[in-house]
Amino acid sequence: MLRGPGSPFSRLRRVRQTLDGIILGEIARRRREGHAGDDILGLLIEAEDSEGERFTDEQVRDQILTLLFAGHDTTTSTVAFLFYELARHPEWAERLAAERKAVAGDGDPDAAQLFGEMPELDMAVHETLRLYPPAWIGPRRSAMEFEFGGYRIPAGLPVSYSSWASHRLPEVFPDPHAFKPERFGPEGRANLPKGAYIPFGGGPRICIGMRFGELEIRAIAATVLRRFRLDLEPGWSMRVRQMPTLSPRGGLPMRVV
Ligand code: HEM
Repeated sequence: MLRGPGSPFSRLRRVRQTLDGIILGEIARRRREGHAGDDILGLLIEAEDSEGERFTDEQVRDQILTLLFAGHDTTTSTVAFLFYELARHPEWAERLAAERKAVAGDGDPDAAQLFGEMPELDMAVHETLRLYPPAWIGPRRSAMEFEFGGYRIPAGLPVSYSSWASHRLPEVFPDPHAFKPERFGPEGRANLPKGAYIPFGGGPRICIGMRFGELEIRAIAATVLRRFRLDLEPGWSMRVRQMPTLSPRGGLPMRVV
């Protein structure tokens, strides 16, 4: 709770000012040049409601920060964990490379192919998100009184769900710490209890970027698999960073083969 000079809070405020400076500076530059740009920032700057009202610069900044932290970190971490597991399971790396080649040859698969025609990639991505759900904990508040595991939870109490914990329940996912994409075959998926697999959350606040994130992960994986195998550095071992999202601590050094 200390807020004076040298405290974590004042450091946070300084970093926040730097981020604000970068984003607000970019918004100002685009407004000045009269060209909002063809990207998501441009869409937000130009968006209008039915009365012609636009976002303020601060609202645009807030949206951009949300997209950066909710959308970028989560996706890149998942790609890293996917290649980590593929390096440890070369038979899966080969299966995915073969599937990619059968679907797209020497080209790149399009979105419909990435989602509809590559079931092995689909299973591997889901198994990665099961083992390493980047947003591994979600804050909620109990809407009404309930009992769970012998505890009485009153209404209005902060309660967190953890996809990490749910995804590793042995009664739902036998041998829960092992990377076994087969579990996400059609039959396995159909038999999952509701709420057991929730890397994107659930309910009204489910991830708004789910399909986009899933597409990015598949597109990056398919592009890399077209020409490369990624091996782990000998002797390197994974340590998982927990905040703000799960990711390999200090990055994931790999050998490009
Ligand atoms: C592998 C990729 C991703 C994962 C695992 C992921 C996971 C999640 C989870 C678990 C939540 C719900 C948090 C809660 O319980 O309250 C969430 C919300 C959200 N995500 Fe994602 N996400 C991913 C990619 C993306 C992308 C690519 C974007 C945007 C381009 C995005 C934008 C958001 C936003 C804006 C919310 C808040 C939605 C709301 O509160 O209504 N996410 N995400």
